[in-house]
Amino acid sequence: MAAARPEAGLLYVCNPNNPTGTLTPREDIEWLLANKPKGSILLLDEAYIHIAGAPMCSDLVAKDKELVILRTFSKIYGMAGIRAGAALGRPDLLQKIVPYSSGAMPVTAMAAATASLKSKNVVPERRKIIGDVRGDVLGFLEKHRFKYVPSVSNKFMVDVRRPGGEIIEAMRKENVYIGRVWPAWPTYVRVSIGTQPEMEKFKTAFLKVMA
Ligand SMILES: Cc1ncc(COP(=O)(O)O)c(C=O)c1O
Repeated sequence: MAAARPEAGLLYVCNPNNPTGTLTPREDIEWLLANKPKGSILLLDEAYIHIAGAPMCSDLVAKDKELVILRTFSKIYGMAGIRAGAALGRPDLLQKIVPYSSGAMPVTAMAAATASLKSKNVVPERRKIIGDVRGDVLGFLEKHRFKYVPSVSNKFMVDVRRPGGEIIEAMRKENVYIGRVWPAWPTYVRVSIGTQPEMEKFKTAFLKVMA
């Protein structure tokens, strides 16, 4: 990325990535910070970091590095509709975002986010639930020899060996709604990880439509 656009003003890294659910190693982030184009800023989107349980990069903000970290209450906290999130960065870097702000957060969002941050259990409990269901469904893919991207997030990509849209439509007919296709990987579909009973329905339908 650093080599692709030496004149870049901003580099965006989503960690874990969406839609693949893969992690960028901490060493790579540190390398990018040390080798990125001069004057550019690293925008690190940690929307899914709580699900992965991977080390966060907040300490790099505390060290005054040229990065801004984005966090959201839309994912593990399950509050997507309420519009709560945070940007962590040096004051001079955050100042650059101010013109794009839509104003103060709603008071409901502030109250709900504050309550969530005070809970000691919410993140570890949900991380474990998602991790257990993910382990089970990835094991199922392994057992049936499907090609998939090993994910540490709340979704995974699986190769359906034909235009992904066909499988999405076939699954819909089984009343199972999965995610979508990304143009760069036309034969892969993204599957969101639901509850264990939901994923049991997914497994049954998936074997049927892939047969
Ligand atoms: C990578 C990534 N970042 C951020 C967001 C959105 O966060 P918010 O709901 O706080 O705008 C999403 C949601 O789809 C996402 O996938």
